[in-house]
Amino acid sequence: MPSYAAFIGHQPHLSMAELSASLPDFRIERILGGTVVIFSAGEILDERFLRKLGGIIVIAKAFENAPADWSTLPRLLVRETQTVKGKVTFGLRTHGLPRSDVSKLYRQCKDALKKSGRPARYVGSEGKPAPSLVLHEEGLIGGKHGCEFVIASGKDFLWMGKTVAAQDIEAYAKRDMKKPVRDTGIGLLPPKLAQILLNFGVWLVKGQQSQNRNSQFAIRNSLTVWDPFCGTGVIPMECLLRGWTVLASDLSLKAVNGCLKNLEWLRKEEKIFKKDVASTVWKQDASKPFEAKMTPDVIVTETSLGPSLMGRPSLKDAAKMRTENERLQEGFLRAVAARLPGVPLVVTWPVWYNRKEQLRLERVWSVIDELGYRSALPPGIESDHETRLSLLYRRPDQFVGREIVLLEARQR
Ligand SMILES: C[S@@+](CC[C@H](N)C(=O)[O-])C[C@H]1O[C@@H](n2cnc3c(N)ncnc32)[C@H](O)[C@@H]1O
Repeated sequence: MPSYAAFIGHQPHLSMAELSASLPDFRIERILGGTVVIFSAGEILDERFLRKLGGIIVIAKAFENAPADWSTLPRLLVRETQTVKGKVTFGLRTHGLPRSDVSKLYRQCKDALKKSGRPARYVGSEGKPAPSLVLHEEGLIGGKHGCEFVIASGKDFLWMGKTVAAQDIEAYAKRDMKKPVRDTGIGLLPPKLAQILLNFGVWLVKGQQSQNRNSQFAIRNSLTVWDPFCGTGVIPMECLLRGWTVLASDLSLKAVNGCLKNLEWLRKEEKIFKKDVASTVWKQDASKPFEAKMTPDVIVTETSLGPSLMGRPSLKDAAKMRTENERLQEGFLRAVAARLPGVPLVVTWPVWYNRKEQLRLERVWSVIDELGYRSALPPGIESDHETRLSLLYRRPDQFVGREIVLLEARQR
């Protein structure tokens, strides 16, 4: 199986879980400094694959005939860029190499290209590789104007390859910042995290599919996803982009209208027609019986985080918010288990950060057991907590984090 290197996002455990969920034969070979994962996978990984992932910045594929050391890279670069017309642009992305070596290699690469009669320039520097945006703008992905080489080295270890895919930062910024309705009051779910949650959802559906061969995903490679706490619709938007049928609801009419507006905007921007990909948005309390006609394959949702906070909550306030939230989660899960048995869920629950400790939901776990759900994680992924299977998402400045829980359902 080919070997790949992934440069991962600021929540490495989530990035690895996403890779494991998305690649059936994913095998970690090495993790370097929490920022690079070397792994093998049977599939050909390219831009199309990367566009579905939220947690990976760059993917490189190992050279087929691995050179013994990096001194041969300048010659390899000349060969790799033979078909480029005009000036060649190249870049280096390294891990574990001293700056002075990177600097030397940049020079050697440029000289080798010059010697072969090719004018050349490079992007990035010995301290920092080129941002993924530059790789796209300069035509380094796909090889039109050049390429980027990757070297990851450690003790008794050297991995070398070529970048094959890089995150499209502009596309993320556009759908995050340019959508017509943004509600900072309810907490903003980053589109990348929405993608990760959806990829966990696909993994759960595929797991259940092995027992249910008639599932829609097996037949059409398509899904129907319900987000019952849709807010302004970050998860539904990512669903539309994947071509999946959207069911979205929220208790608040303001959120329902915001979600509708955002989906309309995305449809126009990306030319996603209703006849091709359907979406239904309605007002409903998630703890009341499911109201839509169509049954979802999976529920993927960022449940209520409770009131937005201006500072760290006191223990007393956090405990009160937790009690209220536990009640909401229990009502929601009971309603789902009654009307949508067998449908798996990917949910995020709030985690409150007090000055001294973190408060997580507790009671809901016994509700899960009682209703016949089981929490799961993709193969090879360890939980962030010793007594529960879940993954944590939190940026350092946040007072409320998100605990991500993947729930397999008892079969219908
Ligand atoms: C954290 S926000 C979700 C934000 C969303 N992911 C987005 O993209 O904007 C939680 C949402 O849950 C909704 N909510 C709270 N209680 C609810 C309930 N009982 N049933 C349905 N929605 C509820 C709120 O109105 C809010 O929009």
